[in-house]
Amino acid sequence: MVAKIDSANQLSAIIEQMLSKAPLSASDYMSLALYHPEHGYYRQSELPWGFDGKDYFTALDLGPLLGETIAYMLHNIWLDLGCPCPFTIFEPGAGRGWLGRDILTAISGDFAKSVQYIHCDDCPAAGREAIVALKPWLKSGQARLAIQGEDIEPFVGAVISNELFDALPAQPWRWDGARWEREVLVSLNGDIQYCTAWEKGESLEAIKWFSQHAEGGLQPEDGSVWVDSMPEVLTDICRPLKKGLFLTIDYGDSAGRLIAKGASLRRYCQHKVDGKWWENPGKSDLTADVDFTRLAYLLECQGFMPKKTVSLGRWISNNAPIVEWEKQWQGLPQAERAKRSHNLLQLTMPNAMGERFKVLQAVKTPGNQ
Ligand SMILES: C[S@@+](CC[C@H](N)C(=O)[O-])C[C@H]1O[C@@H](n2cnc3c(N)ncnc32)[C@H](O)[C@@H]1O
Repeated sequence: MVAKIDSANQLSAIIEQMLSKAPLSASDYMSLALYHPEHGYYRQSELPWGFDGKDYFTALDLGPLLGETIAYMLHNIWLDLGCPCPFTIFEPGAGRGWLGRDILTAISGDFAKSVQYIHCDDCPAAGREAIVALKPWLKSGQARLAIQGEDIEPFVGAVISNELFDALPAQPWRWDGARWEREVLVSLNGDIQYCTAWEKGESLEAIKWFSQHAEGGLQPEDGSVWVDSMPEVLTDICRPLKKGLFLTIDYGDSAGRLIAKGASLRRYCQHKVDGKWWENPGKSDLTADVDFTRLAYLLECQGFMPKKTVSLGRWISNNAPIVEWEKQWQGLPQAERAKRSHNLLQLTMPNAMGERFKVLQAVKTPGNQ
């Protein structure tokens, strides 16, 4: 691949300068492309989420069923914990606040009176949208937006996230038959052009992890993605949870499957997906599959008891009272009923989100720290 620096793109100009000094790792590039304070994708005034004219949608764009299932599950956990008040739901990477809105809409009675919801996301456009979505609960004091860099007070409750971990800067690695290499960008022809290349990498931790988790031996072109910041982000978001549940939904797989597949970065732009992560930085979304084996391992290191990771379809079937809900939907107008059924199908069908997306939940009790 050889590409030209786009001088109209301000982030490209910054990257061009960096490339004139040294190669840039794909992970550092992804970090700039998504989170550069001025030109990063998640720092622009336009919201990336939605259908027409947007780049990608999440399970929340499909309807309230994900939030309703989480609400149902959290209610049971609240009962198991002896009905603590407050019961805090902390959501890092909360984007537009739609998951919080769907959960707060779905709960009632004493559980609703106990719930405090905290939205956490530094994306300014998301924050503005969350103020609209969460308006009734912000007004009543039941919800609030965390301040950037805020140290959240210890709480009993839940840390939940949807598509947070796929947005952390990730580094592609591959096995060339003899050694592990990482993907970088290098400049060509006096900085006007650049290309991707594979170079010997130094991350012993990543190499050890991949070598230990390759199932049935390594083949050339096997590879995966490594998120350096995963332990730190997990520590940060789980630190305030004294007792309760960690729950995350994302796309990804076990370490072994990702290595066998040769997982790499993905670019989403106007609902088209490709692997051209190096093109047009800051103007399209970059994501990577989540290594759920590593996430579960890191949770265990932090005193959680993780359950087996399951597909979103199976998780919904196991946790949502679908028969009861389907009876309730019978009372809705035809169009509303159809929307509900469609929402259920999108989250559970294997060729929609049901199989590609996974759910990992882990419990923390003071005894297992
Ligand atoms: C793929 S979006 C998902 C948004 C939302 N959860 C949804 O499903 O629509 C990822 C979000 O995570 C946020 N994010 C990335 N790193 C974060 C971190 N360390 N703490 C909190 N939010 C983070 C980004 O700003 C972005 O809004």
